[in-house]
Amino acid sequence: MRKYLIAGNWKMNKNAAETAALVDEIVAAVGNDTSVSAVVCPPFTSVATASDKAANSNVGVGAQNMYFEASGAYTGEISAEMLRHLHVDWVILGHSERRAIFGESDELINKKVKVALENSLQPILCVGETIEEREAGDTLKVVETQLTEGLRDVKDEDATSVVIAYEPVWAIGTGKTATPEMAQEVHAYIRKLLNALFGEEKGEQIRVLYGGSMKPENADELLAQKDIDGGLIGGASLKSSSFVALIDSAKKLA
Ligand code: 13P
Repeated sequence: MRKYLIAGNWKMNKNAAETAALVDEIVAAVGNDTSVSAVVCPPFTSVATASDKAANSNVGVGAQNMYFEASGAYTGEISAEMLRHLHVDWVILGHSERRAIFGESDELINKKVKVALENSLQPILCVGETIEEREAGDTLKVVETQLTEGLRDVKDEDATSVVIAYEPVWAIGTGKTATPEMAQEVHAYIRKLLNALFGEEKGEQIRVLYGGSMKPENADELLAQKDIDGGLIGGASLKSSSFVALIDSAKKLA
């Protein structure tokens, strides 16, 4: 019932020329297939190029961040409306790198989530624990706080536009992946929280992605888990061969 979503978070990689080449390859590989949602999230400077290249294709374009204000004196920031103007449909919010390196709080992330929804952008809200938090037995508590604070005051009618990405911080860019069982445990907990927040009918429709060293070699097992509805992919999204292999893994299960 939930369509798999494979989203590439390119982070601070790929200039506009490299973006054009990579999006061309992904669009060609995806072709007419609509059984899986495929989304690329390049850096801001490559978003326009990605949108041009992905126009009229089955590949969606997302941004990696945005600010909650509509316009004004916010040097270095980008608004939801600016993204919509470039035909962007998705925005990653609250990535652990934004939280850890740029000091983003749950309160700030929540403002961004609500403004994204008001502007018809689908937020991909990232949650996940650090290794210290996992070892202290705090994983579910940390995820619960990030999820409920991040979604505070989100309207029921917007619930199914939201996507959650569970990204254990210790698995990001490290080659260490959560085992399918470890990931499923947290995903099932996230599903329970979503059902409590929005009711079961909507909660069961919200996609919960896994992120953290997901690659073609481990994707089949992760994606086969009941509450894993796709992936938010860093390193393996930077080459069309590995990104398309992940889309193919999801296709097999779709
Ligand atoms: P890696 O796939 O490189 O571990 O990155 C995951 C991630 O942070 C996606 O947002």
